[in-house]
Amino acid sequence: MDKYANEIQPVVGPVEVGGELVETWGFRRFEGRVAAVTGAASGMGEAVVRRFVAEGAVVYALDLSRERLDRIWGDVPEVTGIAVDVADSASVNAAFERIGAERGGLHSLVTAAGVSDSPTRMDPEGGHSSADLSTIDDDSWDFVIGVNLTGTFYCIRAAMPLIQATGAGGAIVTISSVGAFAPYPLPAAYPASKAGVAGMTRAIAALVARENIRVNTVAPAATRTAMLPTDEELLDSLLALQPIPRAIPASEMAANIVYLCSDEAQFMTGQTVHVNGGMVM
Ligand SMILES: NC(=O)c1ccc[n+]([C@@H]2O[C@H](COP(=O)([O-])OP(=O)(O)OC[C@H]3O[C@@H](n4cnc5c(N)ncnc54)[C@H](O)[C@@H]3O)[C@@H](O)[C@H]2O)c1
Repeated sequence: MDKYANEIQPVVGPVEVGGELVETWGFRRFEGRVAAVTGAASGMGEAVVRRFVAEGAVVYALDLSRERLDRIWGDVPEVTGIAVDVADSASVNAAFERIGAERGGLHSLVTAAGVSDSPTRMDPEGGHSSADLSTIDDDSWDFVIGVNLTGTFYCIRAAMPLIQATGAGGAIVTISSVGAFAPYPLPAAYPASKAGVAGMTRAIAALVARENIRVNTVAPAATRTAMLPTDEELLDSLLALQPIPRAIPASEMAANIVYLCSDEAQFMTGQTVHVNGGMVM
């Protein structure tokens, strides 16, 4: 007799979502739940949507790009794409009003929409390259803060009544950055916006904790998305800052984000979860 015959063989295997395979390890943690994800037409947001769908959720995919939303999610019945500019409160409010009207409530929100000002090459002598602050004009400062910080706030503000409407709590995950916590060669607006996201996350977590609504942030380092520099030399100089010098796929980051939305993380709130190869310990 096969000596393994009595062992339970778990039904694990990747699930296909929109033409891509998603490894769920057999989890179905979001059966019957509704999730909204911003930045859902690229990178981490897209990978988070796939993971939610693979684990049973229906998902509202919010992004600036109508064209990419249609291309990626047009044939996936569990996903509704809504074109939104997170930096425009009227646009955000309209999107969440629609979700409320269609579903009556929301269980999870992931705010992955974001923009970056370009990283600069590390100074070979150590320390930062001499980015000239005078090149950061008022408009570029306002743009980065407007999308990353204010946009995250607009989305949480609009989503909160829908999460409260479930009466069963819920989870919000924002996206900060290692750039807010460790020396990283980025001009000032991006790390400022991401430090703001982490601070705001803690503040809102404290406000809604008694309603069993959890709010956490993930602080990623190099993740292979459209935001990662394509210049190999520049990328190498950034990876050299990480104790684990690897740029991870978006699906790996999504697994951490989605875990924080799941009931497995029920006692975690107000946390900054550093998924950055040990750059912040
Ligand atoms: N990739 C990395 O190495 C890295 C590291 C740390 C933090 N982050 C953060 O992770 C988050 C996800 O970024 P990504 O790496 O997946 O980048 P990405 O560029 O692949 O995706 C960002 C998405 O946000 C959307 N977006 C931009 N502005 C928007 C707006 N005003 N309204 C609605 N949608 C908008 C874009 O259309 C795009 O689809 C961002 O907040 C980013 O700052 C990324």
